[in-house]
Amino acid sequence: MSGLLKFPVISIDGPTASGKGTVAHRVAKQLGFHYLDSGALYRLTALSALRNGVALSDEQAIAALGRVLPCRFDKGHVYLAGDDVTDEVRQEEIGVAASKIAVLPLVRKALVELQVSFRQAPGLVADGRDMGTVIFPDALQKVFLTASVEARANRRYKQLIEKGFPANMEDLVKDLEERDARDMARTAAPLKPAPGAFILDTSHLTANEAVHQILSLYAQALRNQSAI
Ligand code: DC
Repeated sequence: MSGLLKFPVISIDGPTASGKGTVAHRVAKQLGFHYLDSGALYRLTALSALRNGVALSDEQAIAALGRVLPCRFDKGHVYLAGDDVTDEVRQEEIGVAASKIAVLPLVRKALVELQVSFRQAPGLVADGRDMGTVIFPDALQKVFLTASVEARANRRYKQLIEKGFPANMEDLVKDLEERDARDMARTAAPLKPAPGAFILDTSHLTANEAVHQILSLYAQALRNQSAI
């Protein structure tokens, strides 16, 4: 086992707008861990394809863009080829484009190395769809965060309005259902709980309650590990 592989990982997978981003980010902050927003890498790859006029079905060309993705994460900002695209990558149309390219096996493969490189001392909280199943199957604590479609659409609605983007509840519910179906039905790394993942339904939990639960699970996993 290489030194890199030893740093502990908490994987937090789940559907769109389940609150993963906020929760995973806070867990990472509490533990002083690094944070991987793997969805952002798919969003950045999709944005890069759109900017370069590459069709979202051109698997080879998009994988080539993903392999050398010129991205940088710094103090909550996301950069693509030096441009601050923090707000742009969060837009719904980029999310939809990301979910389309995420079905392409070569694109997923192209992003593996970049994702694994986030595993650094003292540890990593990895947020996505396949963190516990594919990218970090040896994660010390695996969590599958979920919530009802209504709760998720509501959260997404508030986020968009707060940022000054237009939003419509009906469209959001439809978009979430379509995106869930695409994320779950794809053959390459479909969205599903990893074996041994703790399933946490956040429909009726605040973000801090979810954070608290995950920190307790992690503390227990550490105790179990040192008892072995
Ligand atoms: O988490 P998000 O909404 O930012 O993710 C955008 C899209 O990227 C999502 O629809 C599916 C895809 N994705 C993925 O396939 N695997 C991941 N590990 C993360 C995201």
